[in-house]
Amino acid sequence: MVTTRLPLIAGNWKMNLDHLQAIAFVQKLSWTLDEARHDRSASEVAVFPPFTDLRSVQTLVDAEKFSIAYGAQDLSAHDAGAFTGEISGAFLASLGCTYVLVGHSERRQYHGETDEVLGAKVGAALRYGIVPVLCVGETAADLEEFGASAVPVAQLKATLAGISPDADIVIAYEPVWAIGSGKAATEEQAEQVCAALRHTLSEIVDADFASRTRILYGGSVKSGNIASFMRQPNIDGALVGGASLEVAEFASIVRFYKHVI
Ligand code: 13P
Repeated sequence: MVTTRLPLIAGNWKMNLDHLQAIAFVQKLSWTLDEARHDRSASEVAVFPPFTDLRSVQTLVDAEKFSIAYGAQDLSAHDAGAFTGEISGAFLASLGCTYVLVGHSERRQYHGETDEVLGAKVGAALRYGIVPVLCVGETAADLEEFGASAVPVAQLKATLAGISPDADIVIAYEPVWAIGSGKAATEEQAEQVCAALRHTLSEIVDADFASRTRILYGGSVKSGNIASFMRQPNIDGALVGGASLEVAEFASIVRFYKHVI
C-alpha cells in the first residue's frame, strides 16, 4: 500500500528555553530550513515549547508566515473553572496550537497521569480542534516482563476507547528506557511496536483510521539514526527531546529524507 502519511518531526523542548530563547530558536530554525531548501512536502516540522513561550512563538510564526507548527506539552482535561495551574484546550486553540502532547511518560511518571485521565485529555484536545499527540511506551521493567508491545498497546486501548473514527490524532511510541538515555530502540523493535499499535488502531477504530494515523518513534533520536527509523513502513516521524534543542541538529533530523536511501 502506498502511504500518504506526511512524516512529522516534532521537537519536545520539555522544560527548556524561555520565551526569548524560543523566539531566537524558531527564527533560526526557519532560516536554517529555508537555506537548506527544506522540502515541506517531505516532512512537517513542529515544536513543543513550554506554555509560557507559546504566545511569543505564535506572534513570530504569524508575523513571518513560518511553516513551523507548534503545540503545548500538556493540557487540562477540563474546559474551564477552579483548576489552579491547569491550562485549557480553549486557551491553546486561541494561541494557534496545532498539536498538544498527551501522556508523555514524564507526565505519567511525575504527575500520576492515568490512562483514564489521558483519555479525557485526548477528548479535551479534540473538542478544541487540536491534534493530540498521544505518547505510549514501556519501561525497562515492562520490557523485561511483558516484551515491547504489550504495555504500549494496552495504553493505547485504554486511552482511545470510544474515540470517533473521524478524529485526527498522532501516536508517539516512546520506550521509557530510550528517553534521554542515548540508547535508542533498534529500528526493528520500533517498527514491530509501531506495527502492533497500527494494528490495534484498526481493531479499536477501523482500517481507514489505522492507515491514516501517523505513528512516531521517540527516544534518543538524532540526525545519525533518524534515517534508520524513517525507512520503516510503520514509522511516520519522530518525537525528539534533547536533539531538538540544537537548531542545526534538529534541522538535520527534519531533513531526514536527505539521508534515507
Ligand atoms: P530524547 O530525544 O532526549 O531521548 O527525548 C525523547 C522524548 O522524551 C521526546 O518526547
